[in-house]
Amino acid sequence: MADAKKIYRLAEVKQLAEDRSKCIMVINNRVYDVTKFIDEHPGGEEVLKEQHGADASNAFEDVGHSTDAREQMKGYEIGEIHPDDIKTKVKPRPLIVNPSNSSENAAGSWVRFVIPLVIVIVAIIYFRLFSKPTVDTNNPPKAI
Ligand code: HEM
Repeated sequence: MADAKKIYRLAEVKQLAEDRSKCIMVINNRVYDVTKFIDEHPGGEEVLKEQHGADASNAFEDVGHSTDAREQMKGYEIGEIHPDDIKTKVKPRPLIVNPSNSSENAAGSWVRFVIPLVIVIVAIIYFRLFSKPTVDTNNPPKAI
């Protein structure tokens, strides 16, 4: 019978796993003692033994275990990983882009804004300085 569920530090899990006669693993931040399940595991005992003392989350998910398997595994859970030892599995998208990129991006957007502005200003100055006054066709200049 498994011990009452508790919160484990990773160091404690490693310590537990020093007992090679057991089969301890972490799956999705929960600690499992599957020692008694090894012989029954439909996927074979080797795959479980290979995960002894390891984080088997990816291996477990890669197989695409059924909901039955997920229900069954609850019977082997002995605890959870301490929140401070939980590594975020899926890397969240950074809210702030990498500083080196962000300055590059900032410069990029700044340039993108300034270049058209400069072109417009130059065009206005050019037309003001060099454009000929328009000829009024209804009232053309008189010949001298
Ligand atoms: C507490 C942990 C686990 C439980 C309760 C469990 C249970 C099961 C069950 C019930 C099946 C039959 C298929 C299904 O219903 O999905 C199965 C298949 C399998 N499991 Fe696990 N499993 C556990 C951990 C693992 C781990 C950590 C691995 C990989 C390292 C693994 C690898 C496999 C493989 C390869 C199969 C065979 C899949 C197939 O034939 O299509 N299992 N497992």
